[in-house]
Amino acid sequence: MSREPERTLSDHAAHNRERWDQHSADYQLAHGAQLAASGGAAWGVWQLPESQLRALGDVRGRDVLEFGCGGAQWSIALAALGAKVTGLDNSARQLEHARALMAKAGVDFPLVHASAESTPFADASFDIVFCDHGAMSFADPHATVPEAARLLRPGGLLAFSMHTPIVDIAWASGADHPTAQLTRDYWELHILEEPGEAVCFQLPYGSWIRLFAASGLRVEDLLELRPPPDATSSYRDETDRAWALRWPMEHIWRLIRTP
Ligand SMILES: C[S@@+](CC[C@H](N)C(=O)[O-])C[C@H]1O[C@@H](n2cnc3c(N)ncnc32)[C@H](O)[C@@H]1O
Repeated sequence: MSREPERTLSDHAAHNRERWDQHSADYQLAHGAQLAASGGAAWGVWQLPESQLRALGDVRGRDVLEFGCGGAQWSIALAALGAKVTGLDNSARQLEHARALMAKAGVDFPLVHASAESTPFADASFDIVFCDHGAMSFADPHATVPEAARLLRPGGLLAFSMHTPIVDIAWASGADHPTAQLTRDYWELHILEEPGEAVCFQLPYGSWIRLFAASGLRVEDLLELRPPPDATSSYRDETDRAWALRWPMEHIWRLIRTP
């Protein structure tokens, strides 16, 4: 695993590093089985298969960066499909899990310990930058979107899943579930903080689109994820599933790097 060079971590990246380091073992215990059962290449809390969504497309021979890889379940699956993957994560503990799962799978690829807000890679190093509820949810998009764009070759793909602005404004601070009412101010969406939790990020739709355009990224698609009626998840329960069957809880942005 490469060592992070001397870089200044933002306050929220430092907070989230500590939080994810503390939380990593419990997280892998709680969700590792579901991530393993879906084979790694599956999106979001309901693990909808990439083979159906085709959000990444053909990855064979492509230089792919996972932006907040956690245990690298996704990267291991993409390596098996012939991608040349690199996993990046802000948490050393998460990368330890990644290393163990890579050894178990008999695959090897670079793991980099750094924040996605400021990475050690050269410009235009990758064909695909992606994550599934990864750094794009836990780091400031005003830093990560331009950074991902910088790392992509012209025509390259940035694809990432995260919560929707809709669920974030329907989810009251401290509540266990989103509700059928809008409780959080839409216009103020940016930093979402809960005591003792990792800091998350969200923007209003228009702000996302203007940030993509300013960073040299063209919107190709917004895949809104609807679970099957009988979906189960280690992350969510039937109350959340009922919500997600009515409104979009998660989505995947697909963006193309302009020349
Ligand atoms: C929910 S996990 C996603 C990983 C994997 N897709 C999964 O479902 O387990 C979120 C990951 O984002 C990482 N992360 C948080 N902030 C980050 C940052 N600033 N840069 C890179 N990774 C970050 C965390 O350390 C954690 O491993």
